[in-house]
Amino acid sequence: MKKPNFTWLQVAVHLGGWFPLAALFYDFLTDNLTANPIQAIEQRTGYTALVFLTLSLACTPLAFLGWKEMAQRRKALGVYGFLYAALHVVVFVAVDYGLNLNAILRDVGTKQYILLGTAAFLLLVPLAVTSFNYWMKRLGRNWKRLHRLVYLIVPLVILHFFLARKGNLLTLSGDIVQPLIFSSLVVLLLLLRLGIVKRGLVRVRTRLLSARTPTAG
Ligand code: HEM
Repeated sequence: MKKPNFTWLQVAVHLGGWFPLAALFYDFLTDNLTANPIQAIEQRTGYTALVFLTLSLACTPLAFLGWKEMAQRRKALGVYGFLYAALHVVVFVAVDYGLNLNAILRDVGTKQYILLGTAAFLLLVPLAVTSFNYWMKRLGRNWKRLHRLVYLIVPLVILHFFLARKGNLLTLSGDIVQPLIFSSLVVLLLLLRLGIVKRGLVRVRTRLLSARTPTAG
């Protein structure tokens, strides 16, 4: 029998990529989007974008720890992250603010969380545009450098998330449980990129592998 030219992980990534949009559309059609549907769409698209961006950050460490295929799924996860972020911005600009440029610029200038979200989105655009193989080849080493921006973008989004939830770390007020969970996860993923942590993991991995391999004789 011919081997399929896709993997289960690939299928899961693409199903997972479209499912939140289908669910959102279904909830919209069945009038299931709370009393404030615009806010609900903004929250769900923003949250989904953050989940995908965080998953794309997790790919390299997971590949390093042995789940090699994750490295090949990083791009698709990042592109889904961008798609939901773009949808989030379109809903904000066109539906929430009715394309009122003055009101949007006023809020970008006065509301910190909107400013942070805008910065994150503007930084994400060049990554999405250059996510095609053509740009990968054309930019060479600079492609990797450019795509390291994701390590700045995700923390910006988390700060945006935290402030959108009216979070205050000093008083622990606001609905900050989810932003705190994301922050811890992202800090962990960023730590795994540090040379010293990586070297430690290589040592652990080598020890585990040598413990598993039976010695000859
Ligand atoms: C990379 C880009 C962005 C991502 C990933 C993102 C993600 C998020 C997340 C996770 C939330 C919190 C959702 C929740 O409470 O469950 C949120 C809220 C929000 N975002 Fe963004 N955001 C981005 C950019 C922007 C931009 C550019 C704007 C507007 C210019 C914006 C406007 C908002 C608003 C208004 C809310 C609050 C919705 C509400 O609770 O009323 N976001 N965003």
